[in-house]
Amino acid sequence: KRIILIGPPGCGKGTQSPRIKNEHCLCHLATGDMLRAAVAAKTPLGLEAKKAMESGALVSDEIVIGLIEEATQQAECAKGFILDGFPRTVVQAKKLDEMLAKRGQAIDRVLNFVVPDSLLVERVVGRWVHPSSGRSYHVKFAPPKVAGVDDVTGEPLMQRKDDNAETLKARLGAFHDQTTPVIQHYAAKVVALKADRPQDEVAQAIASALNK
Ligand code: AP5
Ligand code: ZN
Repeated sequence: KRIILIGPPGCGKGTQSPRIKNEHCLCHLATGDMLRAAVAAKTPLGLEAKKAMESGALVSDEIVIGLIEEATQQAECAKGFILDGFPRTVVQAKKLDEMLAKRGQAIDRVLNFVVPDSLLVERVVGRWVHPSSGRSYHVKFAPPKVAGVDDVTGEPLMQRKDDNAETLKARLGAFHDQTTPVIQHYAAKVVALKADRPQDEVAQAIASALNK
């Protein structure tokens, strides 16, 4: 299966991905995680992406398309993949469709995570992440066993630089202006999911959407 997760910042894409990945044996490809790794490693690509990411704007289509083109060709992605945070513009979506068509492949489903904007500030400001695995926690909704520490590795958790109320406004603006047209682009493949409810309920709704 080839699945796209789409939705505003903090809607739960990164939280639900590991569950879908394990259940369906798919690769989890998150452009945000790839870009943060490049920023942390100070690669040329990371240095170019840093400013846009910290201001809440989108990174250039060229950069993210390059990342996805490479990642989707990894041997372990042969069974399929979950795209988390890509495509985010119609240009990216068209490029992806073309790229897959050349390989005789296509997107099967687009899961649209619907959460009202008003709930997203609390989700984003309370988020703590384990950068190397991509696991995320929330001070109130999904606290780690020990405050500030990853459950699995015992390593320290961190907050993302773009997880503040101010930058969230810019990220939401980019979502509404540039990413909602992607939902229309895939209209026939989209399943709308009510994502403003407990994580387990969202996971169940995803499971039934994917098993149809
Ligand atoms: P990216 O990393 O993709 O960030 P985002 O889209 O803003 O999404 P988030 O990671 O903030 O949200 P999420 O849906 O994963 O939420 P999570 O599950 O963690 O992108 C970052 C930046 O990179 C962009 O701004 C851009 O600059 C650049 N970029 C990336 N991709 C790009 C592209 N394709 N093109 C151009 N630029 C690109 O959940 C959030 C919190 O809520 C957590 O604390 C979690 O524990 C909690 N939570 C989750 N589910 C629930 C629930 N059901 N109830 C209560 N709390 C919940
Ligand atoms: Zn995420």
